[in-house]
Amino acid sequence: MRKIRVAPSILSADFAAMGEAVERLERAGADLIHCDVMDGSFVPMITFGSYMVEALRPHTRLPLDVHLMTVTPWEKAEAFARAGADIVTVHAEACGERLKETLRLVRSLGVRCGVSVSPHTPVESVLPFAEEFDMLLVMSVVPGKGGQKLIESTLGKAELAREFFEKHGLSPDIEMDGGVTEENAARVRGAGVNVIVAGSTVFGAADMAGTIARLRGEN
Ligand code: DX5
Ligand code: ZN
Repeated sequence: MRKIRVAPSILSADFAAMGEAVERLERAGADLIHCDVMDGSFVPMITFGSYMVEALRPHTRLPLDVHLMTVTPWEKAEAFARAGADIVTVHAEACGERLKETLRLVRSLGVRCGVSVSPHTPVESVLPFAEEFDMLLVMSVVPGKGGQKLIESTLGKAELAREFFEKHGLSPDIEMDGGVTEENAARVRGAGVNVIVAGSTVFGAADMAGTIARLRGEN
């Protein structure tokens, strides 16, 4: 049984005090720090770049899980790897025909490699490349902002992927990102997801540590 890990998204943190937010997440028992990079082209909003990852690196020993919601991720991945990212996830929609090449490039940087599919993208489109990535990120909301409602049909995508991986003797992580709450987390885990991203649920919680534990399925 894979260990369930929680990766709070700093998209919902106070951007004027990001270092403290990351230290608070580590104290509250987070397993990874999910860094939502938005470039204003792949998605309308702009959040931050590799300089933010570099600035946060000394504030935590937790893995930095960088979600590139950017165009031309093959041009951008190296800066994030150098900045201290442990995982760099690229969007299949941004890579197109260059997906396999981009996944190999990310791995060549010495970091774990993730591929993400937006809600409208069939997960079957990336399964042929399953040996090229360490994590599949199934977006459960349309990329671009936090605080949205989880799109139910995306659970089936995670289930399909997990069945495919098990059938082929592969065991990448499956991460789900967007609209995950304490109420739906059990169904998210039940769909074969083992890394849960949560932004607004964690930063909106009265008891951050308790919420993180409950998202993991504890107490
Ligand atoms: C969307 C972002 C959000 C964020 C999580 O582009 O990727 O999904 O990580 O946001 P919440 O947990 O607030 O839905
Ligand atoms: Zn994300």
